[in-house]
Amino acid sequence: VVEVDARSPGTAISTDLFGVFFEDLNYAADGGLYAELVQNRSFEYGPADRPEWHSLTAWELLERQGAAGSLTVTDDDPLHPANPHYAVLTSTTVEGVGLRNEGFDGIPVRAGEAYDVSLFARLAEGEDTVGPLIARIESRDGEQVHGQVELGPLDGVWRRHTAVVTSEATDPDARFTLTASGPGTVHLDLISLFPRSTFKNRPNGLRADLAQAIADLRPKFLRFPGGCLAHGQGLGNMYRWSETVGPLHERRQQFNIWHYHQSMGLGYYEYFQFCEDIGAKPVPVVPAGVCCQNSEVTGQAGLPEEDMEAYVAEVLALVEWANGPADSPWGALRAAAGHPEPFGLQYLGVGNEDAVTDIFRDRFSRIHDALREHHPEITVIGTLGPATFGEDWEKGWAFARERNLRVIDEHSYKSPRWLLENSRRFDHLDRRGPHLYIGEYGSWGNDGRGALAEAVYMIGMERNGDVVRMASYAPLLARRDHTQWLPDLIYFDKTHVWTTLNYHVQRMHSLNSGDTVLPVTVTAAPQPPAVRVSDRHDIRIGTGTGTRAAFADVRCGPAGGELLPAPDFDNWDTQDGTWDIDGRIAAGEGAGPLLTEAVRGTRYSFAVRARKTDGAEGFVL
Ligand code: AHR
Repeated sequence: VVEVDARSPGTAISTDLFGVFFEDLNYAADGGLYAELVQNRSFEYGPADRPEWHSLTAWELLERQGAAGSLTVTDDDPLHPANPHYAVLTSTTVEGVGLRNEGFDGIPVRAGEAYDVSLFARLAEGEDTVGPLIARIESRDGEQVHGQVELGPLDGVWRRHTAVVTSEATDPDARFTLTASGPGTVHLDLISLFPRSTFKNRPNGLRADLAQAIADLRPKFLRFPGGCLAHGQGLGNMYRWSETVGPLHERRQQFNIWHYHQSMGLGYYEYFQFCEDIGAKPVPVVPAGVCCQNSEVTGQAGLPEEDMEAYVAEVLALVEWANGPADSPWGALRAAAGHPEPFGLQYLGVGNEDAVTDIFRDRFSRIHDALREHHPEITVIGTLGPATFGEDWEKGWAFARERNLRVIDEHSYKSPRWLLENSRRFDHLDRRGPHLYIGEYGSWGNDGRGALAEAVYMIGMERNGDVVRMASYAPLLARRDHTQWLPDLIYFDKTHVWTTLNYHVQRMHSLNSGDTVLPVTVTAAPQPPAVRVSDRHDIRIGTGTGTRAAFADVRCGPAGGELLPAPDFDNWDTQDGTWDIDGRIAAGEGAGPLLTEAVRGTRYSFAVRARKTDGAEGFVL
């Protein structure tokens, strides 16, 4: 019997409870959500991304119909210091040569769709012309041209050239080529092919099908850009938000801690815009001034003393960039990018899974103090790391209390069993805070059991929605054949999107999340003991409904025969219960082996005397 006390005012559930966490791993950004079709468009790939990668990865020289020439990369007098490498294309024959890009596992195009072509080009010194540049979408073997357009004229100055090309064919595996029409040398950079039909038709926008799958979750917030990606691998690899806004060619690209490249085409402006487009609050995470777990990997613990002032200023600038008026110094940059209205930043994550060391305490505190002083309106989310219940986790809680943090970010990638067993752990949290943001969680293993366990864990969060402020499953996206973490919520390749059972659990909770928890009383009828014959031919007994019982006497024997006392009875009647995934007690209190040589198919009789240990006396199963 379930009784709900509808007259009680109940407890309010956080209005920001279920959101999403986007991290650029599994090719989630470039080759994923970011809709760019050209791979390595700025020639900035290199061995730091992946040992075998170089500036011309994904590109090749195209010499057709007797044309000959060369394709090299240089950084001499570049387009912008943040984007130092560019291609040098030389045609030594009357017929021009070209270069060809393979995209991310091929370039998918659709008949009748328009694509924006853009690039920066400059004629090499002493050149008058290389003729117009011809951009083509063509079949993989080059036999069919699906669409082509001319760009130019060029001169000796870096200039941006744009054109629109419409594909006449649907081809999931096309290629993009750019050919000079005549002899000579031309410099090329940031060569882009972008679908017109992005999510909400934003220029430099997002892949519509993937963005829609995220939007369909109706997330209350979007956390970005990581995870480990936020602090990166080493000081130079920290994700610095201010280097990811502004014109694309001025954004500093860098290697991705997950072993590929970040073009930063999907930067802070695009993240904030996406949040707005799907009605989710932006939750950016900035590094806490320390490296990955204060990094043993790189030998660098955190930003040097002399860099801290500028770093703190950069974090403060983020708030002004997001929320400041259009005529404030940073707000003006946002306005220039096309968004004069403030974005309404409310939460800011500082750090990710950082070890609570002296340098972390120092760097975090300086950032936190500055935010508290200049932007008390911002809720700072601290970092607790994995739910280990160990010393580090305790230290994280102690530090959060010491700093009087309002919200801290805990992660739990666990077995389905752990999630089930821990769905009540939030019941015992101190309601005064700090409140929890379960920033990353998910069950290991990708069968239905994991999704069910996550559902139970989420119910635990919602029931405690006064102290569990926010939660987001992780990871969100994974490109097939480039998947680095299992399981994930949404899988995709260049043309398809697949949602998982876990996705539908998220969606179900997000779309139906409650606003108030009311007191509920459940009265369960006593149930017969759950008995099963295990593979080891043991018979085990349990209370079956979660009731805790102390057993006074348990006997068992073949039906009609003598009932024998359970062996080792004293060893198993006082332990804590642990539960199997199927809901039966596997071992512990109220459970244990009765017979070790039971025969499958034989009928058995039981005599059980037990007492409930959670209240009522004299309860006999
Ligand atoms: O989600 C993958 C990684 O797991 C995140 O980058 C990190 O925060 C966590 O350890």
